Amino acid sequence: MQEDLDRILFDEPTIRHRLDEIAAQITQDFRDRELTVIAILNGSLIFMADLLRRIPLPLKLDCLSVASYHGGTRSTGEVVFRQVALPDVQGRHILLLDDILDSGRTLDAIRRRLEEAGPLSICVCVLLAKKITRAAPIEAAYVGFEIENEFVVGYGLDYMERYRNLPCIGVLRNELITHE
Ligand code: IMP
Ligand code: MG
Repeated sequence: MQEDLDRILFDEPTIRHRLDEIAAQITQDFRDRELTVIAILNGSLIFMADLLRRIPLPLKLDCLSVASYHGGTRSTGEVVFRQVALPDVQGRHILLLDDILDSGRTLDAIRRRLEEAGPLSICVCVLLAKKITRAAPIEAAYVGFEIENEFVVGYGLDYMERYRNLPCIGVLRNELITHE
């Protein structure tokens, strides 16, 4: 799998070190509030597992499954909620966890949907954020790493459902991407 990468952006020790820092920040910020984490599947699975074990707070965890990509490398703008019942967010402080902030459409759609259910607050934590102008008005309070506008895989991020189990994050070789 690793031979499919053009180059590695973040290796395992680098990711671990950054997770220590973000987790410490979240722990500090939520020390006096009851925290509910909502992880967006499948991309945030590995990030979520590694991050949450570094946060020693009595938090609750829920997951939400959406599809925004349909296999390619570009966001379609259409966000499909895969479950009928959304997590209970009323009267709670919500931390949305996702793998990557790209156009922002996915997280913006999720946030707007959850806001209808009356949470006390919603903030966003992403492992990666692309340095681009977002199509939707959303900002992340916690960002692991900012990256250029390149297609990356590994550590939960996929290309057509592959590479999620790569332990590092890297740029996929261009010739492996089917250009639509
Ligand atoms: P957005 O709605 O454009 O912000 O797209 C967010 C979703 O697109 C993420 O949760 C990922 O699943 C996917 N995505 C965006 N950029 C990448 C990438 O570089 N690699 C893998 N998946 C990506
Ligand atoms: Mg994906």
